Amino acid sequence: ISSALVDTFRRKHDYLRISLTERCNLRCFYCMPSEGVELSPNENILSNEEVLRLAGLFVKSGVTKIRLTGGEPTVRKGISEIFAGLNDLRAHGLKSIGMTSNGIALHRKLPEFVRNGLTHLNLSLDTLDEFRFEIMTRRRGFQAVLKALDTALEYLPYVKLNVVVVKGLNDSEVLDFVEMTKDRPIFVRFIEFMPFTGNKWDAEKMVPSAELLKRISERHPLIERASDELNDTARTWKIPGYVGNLGFISSMSDHFCATCNRLRITADGQIKVCLFDAKEVSLRDYMRSGASDSELLSVIQTAVLGKQEKHAGMKEIDVVNNRPMILIGGFSMAR
Ligand code: GTP
Ligand code: 5AD
Ligand code: SF4
Repeated sequence: ISSALVDTFRRKHDYLRISLTERCNLRCFYCMPSEGVELSPNENILSNEEVLRLAGLFVKSGVTKIRLTGGEPTVRKGISEIFAGLNDLRAHGLKSIGMTSNGIALHRKLPEFVRNGLTHLNLSLDTLDEFRFEIMTRRRGFQAVLKALDTALEYLPYVKLNVVVVKGLNDSEVLDFVEMTKDRPIFVRFIEFMPFTGNKWDAEKMVPSAELLKRISERHPLIERASDELNDTARTWKIPGYVGNLGFISSMSDHFCATCNRLRITADGQIKVCLFDAKEVSLRDYMRSGASDSELLSVIQTAVLGKQEKHAGMKEIDVVNNRPMILIGGFSMAR
């Protein structure tokens, strides 16, 4: 059962994002509706065995990079076992084991995660101001995130810092984030605010990457384009002499769908071929009704073949049928 996950636009999918939980220890407004989300009953969430079975199947189909997301992945019990299981998949071609986390509960657990196989960490942090952190996340915990960042830099070669930029809220901090890249291998990525069910998205609140770059260039005229990783979501820039770098994730103003290599599995076991496509297929149901590996694989391939060329664009994205980010699992913030 080895056949590549190629769609009708000849995109090869070698990056799988697996959401491990719908829960989160923060309540970021852009990720979840203010009234909260209804959590799936526990038995609907994939077990460790199911997660690892799917991971194995995808790796044997050409996936080389897996990222654990949530909700907040660190709140899931038994996550170390998942790292260990993924680590065993290296023998079958898995190269990168990443996690996107809000860092709240990471500082103590990180060394063990790294021992068990974690290779790449993306940390979500939208503000460097403790008070604003509370406003954006509706929780305390700023210092804990900074501590997690320090620990991560001890254990990993670099850390990517995800900053969702919202006009009038944290966009005044852009230059402070730039300074974070001066002395340490921190890759700051400015992310355009994206629309999801209940997150009160509005084009006015989004700061296009081009505008941020302009503002940064005024202060740092020598800023230069750097090379991107393959299939990167970000366009990378660097200030000469700075250790880290800057990335711009322009999902809205300049999408990167043409080079998309991503597939997702939600915590409740649905395959989702595009972040903005409301269509989902339950791999969990197939597994629980006894599907063989090759039957599962053919369900997965059919889903991949249904992937659209690109998302529908700012005005047309289906926020009504699509789930909030917290339940899709791009992410790490909310219950
Ligand atoms: P790397 O593996 O380090 O490249 O991380 P990543 O960018 O794939 O993942 P991360 O979880 O850090 O997500 C950061 C941001 O990338 C999200 O806020 C989204 O804006 C964007 N992103 C991630 N996956 C997708 C995707 O499938 N489609 C789109 N349009 N944006 C995505
Ligand atoms: N717009 C942009 N990025 C978002 N994230 C969560 N919700 C949104 C949104 N509405 C980001 C988080 C996390 C990444 C995986 O997704 O900040 O870092
Ligand atoms: Fe891929 Fe869909 Fe994201 Fe575009 S919007 S990059 S097609 S997942």
